[in-house]
Amino acid sequence: MAKLLKNLTNKQILVGITGGIAAYKSAELVRRLRDGGAEVRVVMTRAATEFITPLTMQALSGHPVSLDLLDTESEQAMGHIDLARWADAIIVAPASADFIARLAQGRADDLLATICLATAAPVAVAPAMNQQMWANQATGDNLAILAKRDIKQFGPGVGAQACGDVGAGRMLEAEALTQLTGELFQQGGLQDLKVVITAGPTWEAIDAIRGLSNRSSGRMGYAVAEAAMEAGAKVVLVSGPVSLPKPERVQVESVRSAEEMCQAVLTQIKGADIFIGVAAVADYRPAKVSTKKVKSIDETLTLELVKNPDILATVAALKPRPFTVGFAAESHDLETYARAKLKAKNLDLIAANSISAKPGTNATSGFESENNQILLIDRENNIITLEQQPKTKLARLLIQHISKKYHAQNTTKNSRQASR
Ligand code: C5P
Repeated sequence: MAKLLKNLTNKQILVGITGGIAAYKSAELVRRLRDGGAEVRVVMTRAATEFITPLTMQALSGHPVSLDLLDTESEQAMGHIDLARWADAIIVAPASADFIARLAQGRADDLLATICLATAAPVAVAPAMNQQMWANQATGDNLAILAKRDIKQFGPGVGAQACGDVGAGRMLEAEALTQLTGELFQQGGLQDLKVVITAGPTWEAIDAIRGLSNRSSGRMGYAVAEAAMEAGAKVVLVSGPVSLPKPERVQVESVRSAEEMCQAVLTQIKGADIFIGVAAVADYRPAKVSTKKVKSIDETLTLELVKNPDILATVAALKPRPFTVGFAAESHDLETYARAKLKAKNLDLIAANSISAKPGTNATSGFESENNQILLIDRENNIITLEQQPKTKLARLLIQHISKKYHAQNTTKNSRQASR
């Protein structure tokens, strides 16, 4: 249980409540999802408000509850499209027979049904109804339509019902629903693989207190590490100095300089299947490091810099080498430079992102930002664009692509070896 709950950390879950006596269990569901680390927003149908109050759900979720499609106030705060985009997953619990029917028809006549239609996130329904309604062919047919559209079905359970009947149609308990929601985020794909990732800036000491560094926040690398962990990998994150919390279930090796980062990577890379270099490694370091604080007496000071090891190129040159992925942050000619880097460093894949905002400004993408967008380029020159979005979501998409590419490459390699 505890293991699966961790999948909910930082996830944005939209809980939809429709009209049914089981709605009282949704209060417990919201509480448990939040205990698991998820942020929860609640959307209720008008019928649901007859069973549990929006105020209760507001208090438990920590956010105002959305009720109506055409309500100017709530559309101003977070409209139906915003909510559909915000959600990492939508859980409709309880899902009444009527709501299931409307979902099967693709209706958009209330807020919850519209959001389900407008989202790209996984949707799950937790049916709750009288056993006779559950047994009706119409309900079965509707659920078969939903299954074809990849809408998940959580439950129902069997047992005593509020109406006095006994049979199938009881909504699953909050604990089981929380567990199933967590499982939605087990993307898989990297099970039993070792993935080494670098993140953050490096710090190149000039003297006892001064140094050269850059504006990398480490957010992208940390998000990639979390996404790889979620996909089932054993993850080692070699991190430069950042002020981010350590991700759970990830082995973090903290380093400062590029040389330390290189050493740590070469130690950890043994047995690794995939290497992802996200760190903004300093290309140069001061030739001499003074152990004392350098006095500022002279008008000018010349620092002699020497080249740092290229960690990514070093890993890509290993024999055997892991599947190697690099990042390229460029201010202009993104595609051209990224392609050149892929070749020069002998990479399998490069993730290129633009850092075109001027230094000192609040960049909307790239360094120090919550958001990023990426161009993924492989050796065959296939290009995939991952649109601007929060780094956590982007990292999950990136890991999906890396996983697909890694497995495709390994299948080809294995079949080539088998035919020899
Ligand atoms: O050449 P450039 O620094 O733009 O390359 C960026 C990519 O190379 C990133 O993936 C970064 O982590 C990696 N890199 C490295 N060691 C260096 C410089 C860059 O691993 N010394």
